[in-house]
Amino acid sequence: MRECVIIDGVRTANVRAHPAKGWFRSHRPEVLLKAVYSALFERTPQVRPEDVEAVYCGTANQAGMQNDIARFGWLAAGLPDTVPTNGIGQQCPSGMAAAEHAARAIMCGEGEIYVVSGVEDMDKANPMHHIDFSPIVAARYPIADLLMGATAEKVASEYKVSRMDQEAMAFWSHKRAHEATEAGKFKKEIVPLEGAEEDGTTFMVDRDQWIRPGISMEQMAAMKPAYREDGVVTAATSSPLTAGACALLLMSRDKADELGLGYHLAYAGGVMAGCDPTVMGIGPLFAARKLLQRKGLTVKDIDVWELNEAFGSQSVAVLRELGLGDKPPFENVNVWGGALALGHPLGQSGARLLVTLNTIMKTDYQDATYGVAMLCGGFGNANASLWRNVHK
Ligand SMILES: CC(C)(COP(=O)(O)OP(=O)(O)OC[C@H]1O[C@@H](n2cnc3c(N)ncnc32)[C@H](O)[C@@H]1OP(=O)(O)O)[C@@H](O)C(=O)NCCC(=O)NCCS
Repeated sequence: MRECVIIDGVRTANVRAHPAKGWFRSHRPEVLLKAVYSALFERTPQVRPEDVEAVYCGTANQAGMQNDIARFGWLAAGLPDTVPTNGIGQQCPSGMAAAEHAARAIMCGEGEIYVVSGVEDMDKANPMHHIDFSPIVAARYPIADLLMGATAEKVASEYKVSRMDQEAMAFWSHKRAHEATEAGKFKKEIVPLEGAEEDGTTFMVDRDQWIRPGISMEQMAAMKPAYREDGVVTAATSSPLTAGACALLLMSRDKADELGLGYHLAYAGGVMAGCDPTVMGIGPLFAARKLLQRKGLTVKDIDVWELNEAFGSQSVAVLRELGLGDKPPFENVNVWGGALALGHPLGQSGARLLVTLNTIMKTDYQDATYGVAMLCGGFGNANASLWRNVHK
């Protein structure tokens, strides 16, 4: 088997998906993809776009402006039409699945160079549009129980995650994301792209829009539940509606050495796990356990974790059940913040976790051996992906 390494990973800022307040409101999703695809080749001029074997792109809602967005993003970037593209749809884990498909193809020797990516604009392609639930599945699981907010409430109740612990998850997410932004940590991965403030003033967007530096536990405690009058999940403890794109350049280690390219992480394995869709947020627990067991590792062997914070409840439940701590802040998990603060553009997030894991392990955790990224997905699919420092 060959080895697959990450050469580079970039993303746009994650911004509000809102027709009046979103900094990228005037950009269609293919414009966001164009920005990240173009940046990859500008940053690694040794790679010719025509030598890319294939492009994979994760997107949860492949409808409207996001219909075959992998193709449209690539062509919009003026890249060669001889390179094939493949849209991957697996709800939130789509972007991670895209990376895993490419990594496996490289390891099998089917190709040397792949671009993997993710994009979602939850305003322009609203996740609830064009959904026509299966009546057969609805007979098995009540549709009301499959809605994301309902699953977050059920996880909170089944895994006994208090409202305060969810809010602490949000508090630390915003605090860490703000501190990382102020320290310029994301500058290595965010590709600036022109956007507009609410009043129309244009500027180069190089930071994430949803981060709230000033939030307090008291403020969050006063918020109304978002999904049920007697619920414990609020807007603060739900990942917000977001738009963003990201892309990674994956390559066989042999090819990278031949081209004289640097790299830090190699793919060490990935799994999917399924679970009851009415508690879909707990999925990463099963995916992480399966991954570690397959690899003969324990949680103690993993130096850095990136978990998509779809909701505060499922984040705390997954991390606690995995044995990573009892309450936020969880050590070595989402060290630069997570989706509660950075946003969660559904199908993009799985690949974005890998972009950030790569940046973290190349900078603050250079001596770490293993990093894991994991996330849940609507209707009960979860992915976990293991990456190894090949410089140790
Ligand atoms: C929860 C949700 C419905 C809230 O939507 P919304 O009402 O448009 O949310 P907003 O971001 O405008 O927040 C509502 C209010 O809470 C406030 N708020 C949000 N987060 C806050 C925080 N951390 N601290 C303090 N206030 C906060 C906002 O400022 C706003 O108050 P305002 O109206 O006085 O300005 C929406 O974000 C959502 O659907 N999230 C989940 C998306 C999802 O399912 N993703 C998939 C997961 S698998």
